[in-house]
Amino acid sequence: MIKDLQQKILKIKSENDACILAHSYMPEEICEVADFTGDSFALSVKAKSAPQSTIVMCGVRFMAEVVKMLSPDKRVYLANARAGCPMAEQFSAETVAAIKREHPDYAVVAYINTTAELKTVADVCVTSSSAVKICRALPQKNILFIPDINLGTYVKNQLPEKNFILLEGGCPTHSNVTRAAALAAKEAHPDALLLVHPECRPEVTALADYVGSTAGIMEFAEKSDKRGFIIGTENAIVQHLQFRCPDKDFYPLSVDLVCNNMKATTLYDILHCLEGRGGEQITMDESLRLKAVKSIDKMIEFGG
Ligand code: 13P
Ligand code: SF4
Repeated sequence: MIKDLQQKILKIKSENDACILAHSYMPEEICEVADFTGDSFALSVKAKSAPQSTIVMCGVRFMAEVVKMLSPDKRVYLANARAGCPMAEQFSAETVAAIKREHPDYAVVAYINTTAELKTVADVCVTSSSAVKICRALPQKNILFIPDINLGTYVKNQLPEKNFILLEGGCPTHSNVTRAAALAAKEAHPDALLLVHPECRPEVTALADYVGSTAGIMEFAEKSDKRGFIIGTENAIVQHLQFRCPDKDFYPLSVDLVCNNMKATTLYDILHCLEGRGGEQITMDESLRLKAVKSIDKMIEFGG
């Protein structure tokens, strides 16, 4: 059944000159039909160079918006129109612009998990894998980091030479993980390394053996000569790693580490989107796009 659906998707994808991008939180069966999988940084770079005229994003809305910003002449679809990232919508551009007016000497650094509107008031975007590198490289000493307080705190702790203002935003999935849960997982698997996404709270990242993006966590586990790993990010990563490294053992840090928005997309959504009877075509006012894309271009320039 899954194989049949995948075959149909692959056929219509090539007939329609479409490229499928899948964030690493997508399940295995979706990654199998994707042209590219990866973390949010890798996908934004791929979006810029994909030769196809149509892009289908299997992820959440801000990711499809980034694709549209970078490829305005392409038809860009979000495979499931209901898949949004709650963190991306936690602050309005007006709120951030007002804070910026009070602190004119601060560079506004926006996590890529933000709406296009919010990106218009950012000087530069960052992803979880590029945040420390980019904040370090910024000429400004003062940084207003939006919207994730946990990622912001993680970056701030790495860069004592900079001043940070943080807002109280965050990921409802990752910020739910408690220190008690992390301690319990370590006690249950004493020989396993704890690998954690920086969207988790500081008291959780403080216990980690490695902190990094979804791609960073996967690379670390694959290359490590250790055998056991507790995975402190969305549980799809546990599944992917177990597929890739059958001789190693992967344990979820918490069974609650599930992002319902990332889980919303199915193979049927992709098929219906390619057939023109599902998904949502992303449209964007050109003046909004031009203002918002500057912060993404800057990120790619800094990120290498
Ligand atoms: P990555 O930047 O690690 O892909 O993370 C995106 C995300 O939404 C994490 O919750
Ligand atoms: Fe947004 Fe969190 Fe889901 Fe990532 S895991 S898409 S940050 S809600």
